[in-house]
Amino acid sequence: MFDSGVGGLTVVHALRRTLPGEDVVYLGDMARLPYGNKAPRTVERYSLACQQFLLDRRVKLVLIACNTASAIALPALEAASPVPVIGAVAPGAASALAATRNGHIGVICTLATMRSGAYAQAIGARDAAAIPTTLACPLLVPLAEEGWTDDEIAALVARRYLAQLFERDRAIDTLVLGCTHYPLLREVLGRVACELAGREVAIVDSASAMAEAAVDALGSNENQRTAAGRLDCFATDISRLDEVAPRFLGEPLTGFELVDL
Ligand code: DGL
Repeated sequence: MFDSGVGGLTVVHALRRTLPGEDVVYLGDMARLPYGNKAPRTVERYSLACQQFLLDRRVKLVLIACNTASAIALPALEAASPVPVIGAVAPGAASALAATRNGHIGVICTLATMRSGAYAQAIGARDAAAIPTTLACPLLVPLAEEGWTDDEIAALVARRYLAQLFERDRAIDTLVLGCTHYPLLREVLGRVACELAGREVAIVDSASAMAEAAVDALGSNENQRTAAGRLDCFATDISRLDEVAPRFLGEPLTGFELVDL
């Protein structure tokens, strides 16, 4: 599994609950974070290098635990991989369609993911009648990294972004957290979305949906052992990782090994 940083550890968390016996190799490309405001060619180049690092470790499945890399680089990554590759967008879109009652889906994500149009395409391809509205929320990534996830500043930022989203479509009943950092802000985003909508808004993140997709992709290749699988974490920069990573993973971490791609 790889991500531009530590956000993908929210996907590791979901995967280890769903497939506890599997060994996980995680690479966070912290040195080049953020991907979310970079040009598509740059994101694709970085993503290919990350995937190659995993393939060199003989993985049997690649999960792109980064919505930006998934939205932009999935075709290139699939073309370069001998093993199945799972992105974040298709599972997230499918979960959103399963959750919505009226087809009005809000997607919050990075600028690059928004510009790619990947969520709107993935939702439209599954249900042409659905109405997706996508908004880039660049300040949410640093808030999640800083750990300011449920205080008055997080609430103000969430309100400012989500007000724009609900201004564009008042009928949104499902909100997709289209960035692997956002599950940390799930509570505040959910609360503010419900306040703005004046009713329940379903919150969907792609982490659990990706874990389910991994089960399908592994099929008979799934590791059935009962002992907990290993988690080996690598990163291209490790400053602040010890402080930030456990928040995303939700379990103690033995540490990251520094690598140079
Ligand atoms: N992990 C990225 C994503 O899911 C967000 C952080 C970044 O911009 O690199 O889109």
